[in-house]
Amino acid sequence: MIDELPAIRDRALDAIAAAADIAALATLDAELLGKRGTLTGLKTALGALASVEEKKSAGRALNEATRAVVDAVEARRAELARADRARQLDAERLDLTESTTRPTRGHAHLVTQAWERLEDVFIGLGFQVAEGPEVETDFHNFEALNMPPSHPARSGFDTMFTDYVRGGGPADGRVLLRTHTSPVQIRVMQTIAPPIYMVMPGRVFRRDTPDATHMPVFHQIEGLVIDRGITMAHLAGTIDAFTKAFFGGEFTSRLRPNYFPFTEPSAEFDIRRPDGTWIELGGCGMVHPNVLRHGGLDPEEWSGFAFGFGIDRMARERHGIDDIRDMFSNDIRFIEQF
Ligand code: FA5
Repeated sequence: MIDELPAIRDRALDAIAAAADIAALATLDAELLGKRGTLTGLKTALGALASVEEKKSAGRALNEATRAVVDAVEARRAELARADRARQLDAERLDLTESTTRPTRGHAHLVTQAWERLEDVFIGLGFQVAEGPEVETDFHNFEALNMPPSHPARSGFDTMFTDYVRGGGPADGRVLLRTHTSPVQIRVMQTIAPPIYMVMPGRVFRRDTPDATHMPVFHQIEGLVIDRGITMAHLAGTIDAFTKAFFGGEFTSRLRPNYFPFTEPSAEFDIRRPDGTWIELGGCGMVHPNVLRHGGLDPEEWSGFAFGFGIDRMARERHGIDDIRDMFSNDIRFIEQF
């Protein structure tokens, strides 16, 4: 058996070197050096040798082989522990340079942004903000604004009527989706005592075919000032103060004669860009005496001006968008650019 020692040792050393992990190494350790291990068994076998000389030399050889195996087990154990630790460190490594995906913050729609900014600018000029209903009566949308049922100006507002009598066809058009924010003028005059300095933003509806500058659902902001001794000069001054506050000091404004049934005189107002080109913004004028009367005010005592313009077109102008429809197409790639 002692003759086989070199072969046993070599096999043991090979097996130790090949041990894949700590557990496999522990099994080998027990098989070689444990109580019933191969090398321990050889020690017992020494006793059977005949001469003292033989015992001595075999004992020395066995000790050397045992030492070699013990050292190899230790060395392999250290090696496997190092590899384990390295693997663990690698798995737990924190890469501080890695960029993680974080949720991106959204933003308000372009029209909402313009709407809120308009409110801010007018509040800065001393105005208050009011809102009215989107479903309106014919009275508020037309009649009180000096457009009785047969008035030709009604055809300029291609109206969507909502009042279908139960089980029947369209009724007489008394309830409709408001075609402009001007009916809120009447509601404000009927509920608030002058002086009135008010803006009224809101959504409006017309049977307009969508194109680059038109939508069937769009937004307007109405302005109404009622006080004593209000003149066209106050209107022009307010429009100009608004223009500079909203667009910047290098923009100016002008009024051009126009016609609206609810204002007299009426005007269209335009904004002049620094490059000399003009943008048409909306309509305005001195509140018509009939409108004041419908609002419950005496035209001999009170006078005022009103204006109204499209918020969508302002947003379009501000961001240089060619086609107004792009703002409502719900293409997030387009909206996220702003
Ligand atoms: C009016 O609606 C008047 N109520 C404005 C007014 C108020 C005049 C107070 C006098 C006193 P008009 O129909 O022109 O006017 O519309 C006003 C603005 O709404 C237009 O200048 C334009 O900017 C915007 N607008 C009109 N139609 C559309 C549409 N289909 N899509 C987007 N914007 C529109």
